[in-house]
Amino acid sequence: MRILDIKRQMKPDDIAIVRDLLRDAERADGHRPLSDHLWLDLVDGGREGFAGLVAWESDHDHPVAYAQISKGHDSFSVEIVVHPHHRYEMHLIGPELLEAVLHEVAVNGGGHVHWWVFEPTIGHEQVAQQFGLTPGRTLHQMRRSLPLSSSDASAKVAVRTFVKGQDEQAWLNVNNQAFALHPEQGGWDLATLTTRLSEPWFDASGFILHDIDETLAGFCWTKVHTDTDPVLGEIYVVAVDPKYRGQGLGKSMVVSGLMNMSDRGITTAMLYVDTNNEAAMSLYGDLGFRIHRTDRAFVGDVAAITPNTPQEAS
Ligand SMILES: CC(C)(COP(=O)(O)OP(=O)(O)OC[C@H]1O[C@@H](n2cnc3c(N)ncnc32)[C@H](O)[C@@H]1OP(=O)(O)O)[C@@H](O)C(=O)NCCC(=O)NCCS
Repeated sequence: MRILDIKRQMKPDDIAIVRDLLRDAERADGHRPLSDHLWLDLVDGGREGFAGLVAWESDHDHPVAYAQISKGHDSFSVEIVVHPHHRYEMHLIGPELLEAVLHEVAVNGGGHVHWWVFEPTIGHEQVAQQFGLTPGRTLHQMRRSLPLSSSDASAKVAVRTFVKGQDEQAWLNVNNQAFALHPEQGGWDLATLTTRLSEPWFDASGFILHDIDETLAGFCWTKVHTDTDPVLGEIYVVAVDPKYRGQGLGKSMVVSGLMNMSDRGITTAMLYVDTNNEAAMSLYGDLGFRIHRTDRAFVGDVAAITPNTPQEAS
């Protein structure tokens, strides 16, 4: 018999319990289960639109699964993690959690939902279909080895590094214009950026900017994953101000970011790209990135329902 503990706010003890589950899943799967924005929402204790669903079984001292809802600027992201020891029950736990998650979205006003699945199987597709979700965005993780060839490296451009307390607003302007339609990367505010800048992995020397006429024109923010084998240097966010697109600056920013990582001793570069982002797919393919893994969002629209218990109304 499973018990579902639904939390709109997470206290430090709740976060520690979920962190342990995520760590066990990471050991089994070779990657951290929650994407960055969900992880930050969790450790923040839960912003508006957050819900953490912790599934327990009576004879276990650890949760058997965790699901999280985080609200983006125009949709909800959902991820579900089943403890490695309970994967044999995934066909039961998955649908139970997804049903509960969609109910939470409904009582939170409803909206568009992305259920993100790492390397989806036919089983995930069947569960999604059962709840009216259809295959939506597909995300490739791509990799290439470093260093670059000298001909690719020749596209490097003059850069400077991000300065905290000085570059935030200019960066937000370029980021939000470049990612205007992006569900997770668009619509950032100062608080969202400040949270990322305070992360333990943040290193300003890997956050490079290019100015034109003393105004920010493009950037490449890198993130080094020291806990992976091999160490991965991620092109975390890269963008060019729309008015400078198509002039070679995007390529120059990626090349400069890759060379920045090479200079720090990194030999494997990695990035995530939406398969419908034609410009980025073509740019990365030309620079020698190859698909390493594919994740997918199952999507759908959830209608609002009126809460029917005092807890749901809170
Ligand atoms: C992706 C992005 C950085 C490219 O910047 P850009 O300055 O326009 O790109 P470049 O002029 O350097 O072009 C480099 C390559 O990208 C590809 N490319 C650029 N624009 C393209 C388009 N509209 N359609 C298809 N391919 C395109 C081409 O392969 C091009 O090489 P080519 O000129 O030899 O054909 C820019 O479009 C952007 O900021 N997009 C929004 C943010 C984003 O999606 N970032 C990537 C997230 S993974």
